[in-house]
Amino acid sequence: TPHKYFIVTATAPVNIAVIKYWGKRDEVLILPLNDSVSFTLSQDQLCATTTACISPAFTNDAFWLNGKEESLENPRIQNCLKEIRRRAKESCSSCGSEDDITSWPVHICSANNFPTAAGLASSAAGYAAMVVAVAEVYGVSGGDLSVAARQGSGSACRSVLGGIVRWYKGEQLDGSDSVARQVAPPDHFGELHAILCVASGRRKKTGSTEGMRRCVKTSLVMNMRLTSTVDARTKNIVKAIAEKDWSSFCDLTMSDSQEMHAACLTASPPVVYMTDTSHAVVELVHEYNRVVVKEGQPQLKICYTFDAGPNACLFVPAAAVGQVMSLLLKVFPPSDHCTLDTYLRGLPCPTPQ
Ligand code: PMV
Repeated sequence: TPHKYFIVTATAPVNIAVIKYWGKRDEVLILPLNDSVSFTLSQDQLCATTTACISPAFTNDAFWLNGKEESLENPRIQNCLKEIRRRAKESCSSCGSEDDITSWPVHICSANNFPTAAGLASSAAGYAAMVVAVAEVYGVSGGDLSVAARQGSGSACRSVLGGIVRWYKGEQLDGSDSVARQVAPPDHFGELHAILCVASGRRKKTGSTEGMRRCVKTSLVMNMRLTSTVDARTKNIVKAIAEKDWSSFCDLTMSDSQEMHAACLTASPPVVYMTDTSHAVVELVHEYNRVVVKEGQPQLKICYTFDAGPNACLFVPAAAVGQVMSLLLKVFPPSDHCTLDTYLRGLPCPTPQ
């Protein structure tokens, strides 16, 4: 007899933090030390696609990432699944009957359309898509999915929502108020482009958990960030967003990125994510801004931000994209051997013959 199954596919885009989440107060529940703010990119660009299938015919849960079966021992995936199954049981209509779907194993297939762990927030999109697909397949309706996504990867809770999103650190010990909320819709600052400058598509050296831990334990700049600067900057960026003050938004975004990486460099041993290429992108952006502001066009201002890796994300108003792209290509001409495709797929550049 054919077995029953349910199957759901969900996609979630990458989000890029403008006020960084950097430091946990609880490593198991993944509770942050500060609020963070991010932009979720649009659905049709860098995203993760996850299919979840449940069936009484499966003997156990299973998980594939980019076509390769991965162990489900990862406690973060386990925590996400546990949270969703707990909710499914709460609102379960089939529970107790023969068709109790909450006890059916799940098979999860996830794929990114960009290199994993290169500092491009792949885990955020991945966990967000997984939580949405698994919740739907188990019939979980309503509730705040950002709480479940957060338990996979902190920044994932922001990818569950679109536009500009704030993740509140919350006060409760159980993390129930550590949730993400939309602050503004995607088109709030008009048509914006995110230009991702891939300085390296390779896996990062220090994972974010270890990087954060070292900063919290040893960095004086991190201490200053947590005690006196990041909360004020968050308040200011929320105000800049409310007032549609693009210029201040850009300045605050760049300061926060610099502060996070300053905290990293002053940790012991230092956590180094940015490279000479990253710093050259920073210089290009400041020079560009100096010139456009001097020309009286602050609406064309751009900003950079760097996550736990060397790749820059530039936020660029549509009217400036042409000029910024041609500048980037002039200053960083692609070599003969690397192509956009090799970068995006995370492949090594072919060696010259
Ligand atoms: O969610 P995680 O553990 O991958 O940490 C993300 C940390 C940053 O990307 C550097 C900052 C952020 O807020 O996304």
